[in-house]
Amino acid sequence: MNGFLNYSQSGLLSTCEVVIKKDHIIFGSPNIDQEEIDEVVECLKSGWLSTGPRVKKFEKAFSEYTGAKHALAVNSCTAGLHLGLLAAGVGHGDEVITTPLTFGATANVIVHVGAIPIFVDVDSKNMNIDPDQIEAAITPRTKAIIPVHFAGHPCDLDAIIKIAEKHDLWVLSDAAHAVESRYKGKHVGSIKHLAVFSFYVTKNLVTGEGGMITTNIDFWTEKIKILALHGLNQGAWDRYSDEGFKHYQVILPGFKYNMMDMQAALGLHQLKKIETRLKRREAIWARYDEAFAKMPCTLPPRPGPNVRHARHLYTLLIDEEDAGINRQDFQNELHKRGIGTGIHFISLHLHPYYRNRFNFKSDQFPASKFISDRTISLPLSTKLTDSEVERVIQTVGSILRVAAGTARFPDVSNVA
Ligand SMILES: Cc1ncc(COP(=O)(O)O)c(C=O)c1O
Repeated sequence: MNGFLNYSQSGLLSTCEVVIKKDHIIFGSPNIDQEEIDEVVECLKSGWLSTGPRVKKFEKAFSEYTGAKHALAVNSCTAGLHLGLLAAGVGHGDEVITTPLTFGATANVIVHVGAIPIFVDVDSKNMNIDPDQIEAAITPRTKAIIPVHFAGHPCDLDAIIKIAEKHDLWVLSDAAHAVESRYKGKHVGSIKHLAVFSFYVTKNLVTGEGGMITTNIDFWTEKIKILALHGLNQGAWDRYSDEGFKHYQVILPGFKYNMMDMQAALGLHQLKKIETRLKRREAIWARYDEAFAKMPCTLPPRPGPNVRHARHLYTLLIDEEDAGINRQDFQNELHKRGIGTGIHFISLHLHPYYRNRFNFKSDQFPASKFISDRTISLPLSTKLTDSEVERVIQTVGSILRVAAGTARFPDVSNVA
C-alpha cells in the first residue's frame, strides 16, 4: 500500500511517504471505529472545529473516569507537562527529579522552564524511578519530582509522596502511558498534585495528537487554562459562541496548547471503550508471557501488588549472551519479517544533548542503561487479531531458534 502515513519504529512521529508491505504489523496501530469517524464528521459539519463543546464534554468524562477534580485537555502530553511545571512555579535554576528511562519530552520540558533535570536510576523490578535513590538527589534547589509510570506500571507513589512531603516538593506524574493505571485502588490521575496523559497515535487512548492534565488544585487549573491559550482571559468558545462576543485581554505570555473539538470527538468514544480494550491488551499480554517464558529473553516486569497496569508497552529484554543475538539485530530481523517494534527507551543520559550538556557518563545509571541496551517493545494494539499475535510469537521464536543455532531461518521472501 502506498500512501502518506505517520510511522516510525521508535514511535517518534515522522511524516513521510512510506510503503507499508502487505502483511506488515504496524507497531502501536490506532484502533478507530466507525463511531469515532462519525463523531469527527459531525464535528466538521457543526462548524466548530477548535476548542469548544466536545472538548468540554471530553474533559468532564475524563475527570469522572479518573476521579480527579479537574481535567484540562491540551494538544499533547508534552504541552501538559510544560504547563504543569509552570503552574507549580518551577523556573530558572530549579532542579526537577525524574527518570532517565523515558521519552525526551519528560526532561525537555524541565529544560524549557529553565530548570535542571536530575536523573535518578530506575528499579529493574518495575522499570520506574527507584524511590530509595531519590533522597540522595535532593538539594535546596529541588522543586518537583516527575515520576513516569513506565509502560503503564504505576510508580511507588506512597514512597515518592512521603519523600516529597518531607522536602516540600511537587509531584507531577508523567502518565503518558497510564490512562488505565491505578495505584492502591485510586486512579494515578487523582493522586497528588498533577498528572498528564498522552493521546498520541500509538497510545491506549488516541486523539491523533493530544493530552490531558488532571489535578485537584483549583488555582493551578485557572493558571493552566490561561497559559494554554495565549495567556488570554477568555477562551474562543467564550468569545464567539452564541452567547455573544466578549473582549479578551492578554494577562500572561501564554502558549498555543489547546485541544481541538475534532480531537475530542475521537477521545470521547475512545474513552468509552478504554476498559473493554484493556481486557484485550491483558489477554494479548498473557498469551505473550506464556509463549515467551520458554524462550531466551526476559519478560516485562509483572505488576506489583495493589497496582493496576495499563499494559501500554510489552517490552522484552534481549541479552546477547543468552539469546545469541543483540537487540538491534533482533529488531532488524523482526522488521524484515513484517513485525513493527518500538524501543522504549534509549536512556536519556545517553542522548547527545543530555550527555554533553550535563556530562553524564554512560554507566552513571546502570539499571536504566542495562534496560536501554536490551529492550524492545512488541505490537500490543487492540487492533491485532489472534492470528497476528500468533505470527508475532512464531517470528520471535524462529529468530531466537536460529540465533541459538538450533534452526535455520525459514525462507521469508513471501512475508517481507
Ligand atoms: C513517557 C512519555 N512522556 C511524554 C510523552 C509525550 O507525549 P506527547 O507525544 O503526547 O507529547 C511520551 C510520548 O510518547 C512518553 O512516552
